[in-house]
Amino acid sequence: MNTNKLSDSLKELSLENGATAPKKTSKPKAAYDKIALRERWKILGTDPEQSILSMIRKACMNTFARKDFFKILQMIKHSFVQRDYEGIFTEAINLEVYTAAYVPGRALCYFEIFCRPQLLKFLTKRSRIYCVGSGSGSELTAIAAAMTRVPAEYQQVGLIMQDIGDYKSVLDSLESTIREKWLLSQEQLQCTYEQSDVLDPENHEIDARLQEADLITFMFVMNELFVKKAAAMALIQKMVETMKKGAHLLVVESAGSFSHLKVGDKTYMVYMLLDAIQDLELVVGEDSRWYRYAMLSSE
Ligand SMILES: C[S@@+](CC[C@H](N)C(=O)[O-])C[C@H]1O[C@@H](n2cnc3c(N)ncnc32)[C@H](O)[C@@H]1O
Repeated sequence: MNTNKLSDSLKELSLENGATAPKKTSKPKAAYDKIALRERWKILGTDPEQSILSMIRKACMNTFARKDFFKILQMIKHSFVQRDYEGIFTEAINLEVYTAAYVPGRALCYFEIFCRPQLLKFLTKRSRIYCVGSGSGSELTAIAAAMTRVPAEYQQVGLIMQDIGDYKSVLDSLESTIREKWLLSQEQLQCTYEQSDVLDPENHEIDARLQEADLITFMFVMNELFVKKAAAMALIQKMVETMKKGAHLLVVESAGSFSHLKVGDKTYMVYMLLDAIQDLELVVGEDSRWYRYAMLSSE
């Protein structure tokens, strides 16, 4: 620090010109109740991942009990290979099976992501999170679980989930099980579900959501949207133009060929397109990452 800067700092502290030194204040108190936070950590128990799986198992109990569960699952897998997303996500019966089969793994992986400090900060305060293509509930599960890791005092998360599929009953079941098991009040976590097409240019609710969100997520949905390239590009452009300053965008995609995007005779990864957008600043980025759940519990 040079002498001018030092003297300016001293003036600010009123130490110059014989002014009395500021009284020593006692150590600032933590802005949250540490004991209460320690109690909150107990909500997910000693094995948070197993708690997440148990919550999903309870919420999807009836679906797991279906006799045709594996038959439907096989059909869904086949449609994925064909990239026939509409075939999967517009058939009501497929949605529940899809959730029960795919959400457990995703929710664990997303829990780890939402527990990172760059995202956890949105879960400690008043914030709006807009999750595109989130009807099956992985985002709801992961966000709710991560919310138990931070103080509750100022927690007021408005979670808006949008999906083209009719996931209302799936999300209702997950939400009520989450509230019962993880003790999250309506004030702490407010959930809204909208069944609509995010690529619909006539839906002006989407514009408002993009503008108001502190965090926008696209988790395993970008490559599906890019089946309709022009409409997907228009959405990204609108988002970049309207996002508020400081808002974050979270994109999680397959690191494999599912994320290939053909433009002319060239093939790109979907994320390359986002990386090329100059108005966005990268906060954290990883090309690929494995999430492994270490062991299977017998619970
Ligand atoms: C592969 S799933 C991922 C679900 C969830 N985000 C997750 O990670 O578990 C893609 C989701 O995007 C939804 N989706 C696809 N196209 C959409 C569109 N145009 N508008 C809204 N949702 C869409 C599908 O219905 C489906 O639920």
